[in-house]
Amino acid sequence: MKKTITLLASLMLTVGLLAACGTSSQNNNTSGDKKVLTMATSADYPPFEYVNTSKGGKIEGFDIDLANAIAGKLGYKVQVKDMDFSGLIEGLKSGQADFVLAGMTPTPQRKQNVDFSDIYYTAQYMFISKKGSGINTLQDLKGKTVGVQLGSIQEAKAKDINKTIPIKIEDRNRIPDLIEEIKAGRFDAAIVEDSVAKGFLEKNKELTGFTISDKADEAGSAIAFPKNSKLTTKFNDELKKMKANGELQKLIVKWFGGVK
Ligand code: ARG
Repeated sequence: MKKTITLLASLMLTVGLLAACGTSSQNNNTSGDKKVLTMATSADYPPFEYVNTSKGGKIEGFDIDLANAIAGKLGYKVQVKDMDFSGLIEGLKSGQADFVLAGMTPTPQRKQNVDFSDIYYTAQYMFISKKGSGINTLQDLKGKTVGVQLGSIQEAKAKDINKTIPIKIEDRNRIPDLIEEIKAGRFDAAIVEDSVAKGFLEKNKELTGFTISDKADEAGSAIAFPKNSKLTTKFNDELKKMKANGELQKLIVKWFGGVK
C-alpha cells in the first residue's frame, strides 16, 4: 500500500513538473510577460546567419549576436527558428516568430505586411559567375541563366534587369544551392549581396564577381516585426544606442571584418 502511495505521489509530481515545463517553455502566451522571444531567420547567409556544423549545428552569425545583444538589454532571451527566406514574412504574420533578423531589406512591398527597424547594415548587389565566363558587366548577362534566392530583393532585381537585358531567371530557396548550380554549369551567374558573396568567393576560387552600386540602402538590412508589435520601438531604440556607442560597429568588424 505504502509503495502504491509513493508511486502515485511521484507520478503526480512528474506530471506536475511536466506541466510546469510545458508552460515555461511556451513563449506564445498573451499575458505580455514572456521572457523568451522567437527570432525567425534563414540560416543560409553567412556571415549574417549560418549553421555551424562543427558546433553541432548551432546557428550563429552577425544577426544572432545583434539579436542577443538587443534582446538581452531588454531582458529577453532569444530562441532561433530556421526557415526558408521566402516564408519569413508569413511566419511573422502568422505569429510563428516575434521578429525576423535575416539580412532582410525593408522594401515598400514588405512594409505593407510587417514593420521594420532602422537599417543596421548596408550592402550592394554582386553578380557571381565562374572565372573566365566573360560576365563582367550587366550587359554580359544577356541571354544567360541567372540564379536568385526565392523571395529576395535579388529576385526583384533580376526581374528588373530582365526588362532591359533579357535573361533567364532561376530561383532556389537557399544561397549555397545557387553557388552549386554555378559550379555545376547550370547557372551562368547568380545575384547575391556583396557581404555574403565575399565569403563564398573566398571558399570557391573558381568563382568571381562584380558589384553594381545602386542607391544607398537599397540593399540594406533591418529587423522585421509583426505589424504594430510593441517590440519595434524598443528594439529600435536599443539599435540606435548601439550605433551611437560603437557596439554595432564592433559586431560589424567581428563578422564582416571591415568598415561600413
Ligand atoms: N537582403 C535581401 C532581401 O531582403 C536578401 C536577404 C536574404 N537573407 C537570408 N538570410 N537568406 O531580400
